[in-house]
Amino acid sequence: MEISNELVKRINELADTYPNRKGALLPVLYLVQEEYGFLTENALKDVSFVLNIPEVYVFSVATFYTMLHTSPQGKNIVSVCNNISCSLLGSEHIIRTLESILEVRPGETTKDKKFSLKLVECLGSCGTAPVMMVNGDLHENLTKEKIKEILEKYK
Ligand code: FES
Repeated sequence: MEISNELVKRINELADTYPNRKGALLPVLYLVQEEYGFLTENALKDVSFVLNIPEVYVFSVATFYTMLHTSPQGKNIVSVCNNISCSLLGSEHIIRTLESILEVRPGETTKDKKFSLKLVECLGSCGTAPVMMVNGDLHENLTKEKIKEILEKYK
């Protein structure tokens, strides 16, 4: 068991506000992530046990949502949309530029732990493609030139 007793108590309190234990899964995973920074395998097993939901279901939810992390992340998370509109308007160049500036590949974290780079599905801003999100901030109509300027703000 990795999750503390205090956190188990908070999970149960949160779960009690939902009609069933399964409905509480997503907010519970956010709660655990908030506590530990990311979702470890043991933490996911604990969530499965506490909520009485099959492990395979908990793991599939934890790996499906881009805002949930199953590995340690950098201080800032750069999520680049690589879906159709962004792709047609040059997201490949944006990704290559980010890889070159940050010296990481998608899914990796910079050596100084300041940035994690992720590829994500549509961010819901196709009309201003290509776009990326840094933490909760959306950056639209990206160009290679804009990227460096944007990253500077998060250092
Ligand atoms: S395709 Fe990129 S925001 Fe929709």
